[in-house]
Formats: sequence, structure tokens, C-alpha cells
Amino acid sequence: MNVDLYERIWMWAVGVVLALFFTSTAVAAFGHQMHPPSHIETIDPAKALGDPRFKKQGVSVDASGRVHAQVLGLMFTWLPAEMTIPADTPVTFKLTSIDVIHGYQIVRTNGQTMVVPGYVSQFTTQFAAGEYLIACNEYCGVGHHLMAAKLHVVPQSQWQPPAREVADVR
Ligand code: CUA
Repeated sequence: MNVDLYERIWMWAVGVVLALFFTSTAVAAFGHQMHPPSHIETIDPAKALGDPRFKKQGVSVDASGRVHAQVLGLMFTWLPAEMTIPADTPVTFKLTSIDVIHGYQIVRTNGQTMVVPGYVSQFTTQFAAGEYLIACNEYCGVGHHLMAAKLHVVPQSQWQPPAREVADVR
């Protein structure tokens, strides 16, 4: 088959670009362990409000001193609507939705995940001290634009840990 020189050049160029894309994805996923914020934990959305993992929303500290935040998304609010966490401390967020898909975005940080009914989304990150807006970034209905919450990040010395409770649900 006779392929024109320029066509051959473009074919090779496309091949090289595709190889670069796949390689960079593979390096990020397997080399740097970068994965979407989830760990394939399931939950019954109809019972999420009473589920032991989400019965108490908000900040907790587990037996080993790690800070957790349990958050529920529902039309059209985040529960809890305000949280206070220590600065420069890794916090593991666990989120689920009891109705439709929402998007949890701690604005101007890397704290962000889709919140999908039936699944528990999880990410761990830390913040500099300050006030952060939490928005919903997945259109979820007529009240989508009202679905906001606040995150207060205070210096470690000013942070009052909540009463220690069992938070180590994995
Ligand atoms: Cu929830 Cu948009």
C-alpha cells in the first residue's frame, strides 16, 4: 500500500503522542500511586443517614490520633455545614450521598471528589490555616447553587479536638 510521506509522518506523530499519553497515565497510576479519590467502599444510600460510618457527621479523631471528617451530601446541603480542623495536619475525608451525585470541592485546594450515592468517596489532604468555601460542583438540581459549606482551618495550637470516639471505620 502506498502511503504518502506526509500522511506517514502524521500517522507516526499520532502514534508517538498516544504512546506518551498512555505512558504518563501508567506512570502516574502505578509509579506514583495516583488514583481517583475512592476506595471502592459501598453503602446503601437509603440507609446512609443511620449507617454507623455516617451516623455522626463531622470531625473525629481515631485511637491513633488521625483526624477524620465524615460528610453527607444531599439535595441541597452538606452535612455538617461547618467544620473546624487543624492546619497542616492530614485529614481523611469520607463522603457519600443519600440521593444524587454531588461534587465536593474545597475551593482553591486539592480537596475535591465526586460524591456518588452507593459509594464512599475518600481522600486525605491537609490545609494551610484559613477559611475555605466548600461548594458543590456537580449539577444536582434546582438548589445546586445553594449547596455550600464552610471549612475553618485553625492553627494546631488553637484546635479543640472533639471528644475521642470510634472513627476508625477502616
Ligand atoms: Cu449538590 Cu450540586
